[in-house]
Amino acid sequence: MPPACNLWMYMVTVKKSEAVAVLPEPVLTRPFGIRRVVAETADTFTMILEPLSGPHEYPFLPGQFNMLYIYGVGEVPISISGDPTRPRVLTHTTREVGTVTKAMRRLKVGDVIGVRGPYGSCWPVKEAEGYDVVIVAGGIGLAPLRPVIYHVLGNREKYGKVVLLFGARTPEDMLFRKEVEKLRSRFDMEVFITVDRATGDWHGNVGVVTTLIGRAPFDPFHCIAMTCGPEIMMRFTVLELVKRGVPEDKIYISMERNMKCGVGLCGHCQLGGSFACKEGPVYAYDKMKDIFSKREM
Ligand SMILES: Cc1cc2nc3c(=O)[nH]c(=O)nc-3n(C[C@H](O)[C@H](O)[C@H](O)COP(=O)(O)OP(=O)(O)OC[C@H]3O[C@@H](n4cnc5c(N)ncnc54)[C@H](O)[C@@H]3O)c2cc1C
Ligand code: FES
Repeated sequence: MPPACNLWMYMVTVKKSEAVAVLPEPVLTRPFGIRRVVAETADTFTMILEPLSGPHEYPFLPGQFNMLYIYGVGEVPISISGDPTRPRVLTHTTREVGTVTKAMRRLKVGDVIGVRGPYGSCWPVKEAEGYDVVIVAGGIGLAPLRPVIYHVLGNREKYGKVVLLFGARTPEDMLFRKEVEKLRSRFDMEVFITVDRATGDWHGNVGVVTTLIGRAPFDPFHCIAMTCGPEIMMRFTVLELVKRGVPEDKIYISMERNMKCGVGLCGHCQLGGSFACKEGPVYAYDKMKDIFSKREM
């Protein structure tokens, strides 16, 4: 094996056949065809992909991510936002922020994208059985949590109350809007939505998502909470959950870090003694408390 940080250099300097023989299978990029592109908001889109070679199914756990490669541009980590019980398609929801994600947005149905993964830890859907489930999402943070919603609702009898608290910047920025509205009409889960800034004919809650935590109907002493969104939002979410009595080891956060290899080799994603691409991105809060509570990370 080449030195860890030189993995990519190594890949381009050996012949493809040698690389295939030496590199572990999960590091190899596979071509996927774009089957559908859905515009979610002005800057966020969902791509539905299917494999063009290899196994037809792509099993993954809620919370895991893939490294998506836009040929000739670059590679980025993006969480899987689809239904884990439908492994024949791969779903990713991405916000355009820079070079690679903007190039990804320009791709069309039929274009090819490179995929390697799935990588990383998962949300504690197994550990949450028998507990109330509290999902707190901010903006694009709902995408990595969507597989949890599919899983929990697909196995509804195994869980206590299910509560989704979702905050968006404006009503227009609300991800999966139709889907969230459908969830809101269900009798077996509670959905609370808020926006930072009301626009148009919005008559719902206004304020940050953390303001919903105090009045959401769940048992703080018997729940598992999962939160994903901007780090500042997660930090205040944790504070509010703890204030309500949720034990720190029952709160899970997603730590997104700059990633290159995705498999614990290059060190780009190091968080203290942990590599976010391997032991994360999903961590129990009590394990990350020291790092997470630092203002600047
Ligand atoms: C495990 C993991 C899972 C992720 N899942 C998703 C996902 O499901 N959907 C999604 O849209 N993104 C997700 N991201 C973030 C995504 O990887 C980055 O947005 C992407 O790498 C940016 O690449 P770029 O080349 O487009 O932008 P760059 O050219 O690298 O950056 C352009 C500008 O955007 C800023 N920027 C970079 N990343 C972010 C970010 N995360 N948020 C805000 N600003 C940023 C940079 O600081 C820079 O100013 C995930 C990241 C990780 C580590
Ligand atoms: S991205 Fe290389 S070690 Fe995590």
